[in-house]
Amino acid sequence: MDLGVDFLGHSIKNPLMNASGCWCDNKDLLDDLLQSEAGTFVTKSATSEYREGNPKPRYIEVPLGSINSMGLPNLGIDFYLNYSLEFQNNHPDDINFLSIAGMCMEDNLSMVKKIEQSEFKGITELNLSCPNVPGKPQIGYDFEATERILEEVFSLTKKKIGVKLPPYFDFAHFDAVSEILNKFPLSYVNCINSLGNGLYIEDDTVSIRPKDGFGGIGGAYVKPTALANVRAFYLRLNQDIAIIGCGGVESGKDMYEHILCGAHLVQVGTQLMKEGPQVFARILQEFNELVKSKGYESLKDLRGALKSM
Ligand code: SIN
Repeated sequence: MDLGVDFLGHSIKNPLMNASGCWCDNKDLLDDLLQSEAGTFVTKSATSEYREGNPKPRYIEVPLGSINSMGLPNLGIDFYLNYSLEFQNNHPDDINFLSIAGMCMEDNLSMVKKIEQSEFKGITELNLSCPNVPGKPQIGYDFEATERILEEVFSLTKKKIGVKLPPYFDFAHFDAVSEILNKFPLSYVNCINSLGNGLYIEDDTVSIRPKDGFGGIGGAYVKPTALANVRAFYLRLNQDIAIIGCGGVESGKDMYEHILCGAHLVQVGTQLMKEGPQVFARILQEFNELVKSKGYESLKDLRGALKSM
C-alpha cells in the first residue's frame, strides 16, 4: 500500500514519526531520525533558553512502558529553529514539526513571534501538556488558560500551529476542550502526552528522583486512553483539524488502531527510546502486512473506519 500522507498540503512519505521528547533533544539524535524510516519528525519541546531539566534518574523503562519526569531539558528555541531551517534548506520537499513549551504565556508568545519572523515552513506544536515542571500545572487541564493562550498565539501568527494535549477522561471534558479548539484555525491536535503524575515503585522506593517520584506514564499502559482521546477528538473536531495519535505504539497493530480511530499521523515514544530509530522500519513493515491482510487499499479508507458493535 502507498503509505504517503497528504498532511495539511504537505506530502509525507509515511504516517510514522517520533513523539516529542523522544530521540530528538540534540543534533546527533535528530540526525538519527533523518536517517531512519520515519516519515517526518518533531523536535524536543523548546523553551526560550537552554534548560537543564530535572535531576536524574528522571526516565526509566518499566514492565509495560516508562515513567519520566524530564522537566523539559532542552537546548533552547534557537537551536531547534535553526536545525529545522537547515533541514528545510536541505530537504525542500519535506516538513518537520517544531515543538515549544514556554514556562509562561510571554515565553510561548516570544517563541511564536520568533518562528513567525523566520523562514520556517513546517508546523509548530504548542505543548500544553507537560506534567513534569515543578509548580507548573498542565495548561490543557485549565480550559480558560487554554483558550487564552490560543487567542494570543493566533493573534501573532498565520503559520501552522498544532497543540499537544494531555489525556482527558470524561465526555464532558472531550466536549468542552473540542468546543474551544474548534474556535481556532488549528492545524492539528496531538493526543496524548504522557499520562501525568503516576508513581512506579521498586523495592518500596519511588523509581525516579524528581517530584517525589511522580511522573508521566507512557507505553502499553496508556494505549487505551490514547485511542479513546484520538477517537473522541476525531468525532468532535472540525474536519480541517487533523489528528496525530500518540500513546502505546509498539507494533504495526498499534499504529493501525490509532489510524482506525482517526489519526492522520502516528507517533512512537517509549518504544523508540527502548529500540532506537530502527523501530520505524519494523512497525511500518508490520503495519503494511496487517493492512494488506485486512484488504484496505488506501490509508484514507482505513482512517476513522472503526466499527460500532
Ligand atoms: C519533559 O521534558 O518533562 C517531557 C515533556 C512533556 O511531557 O511534554
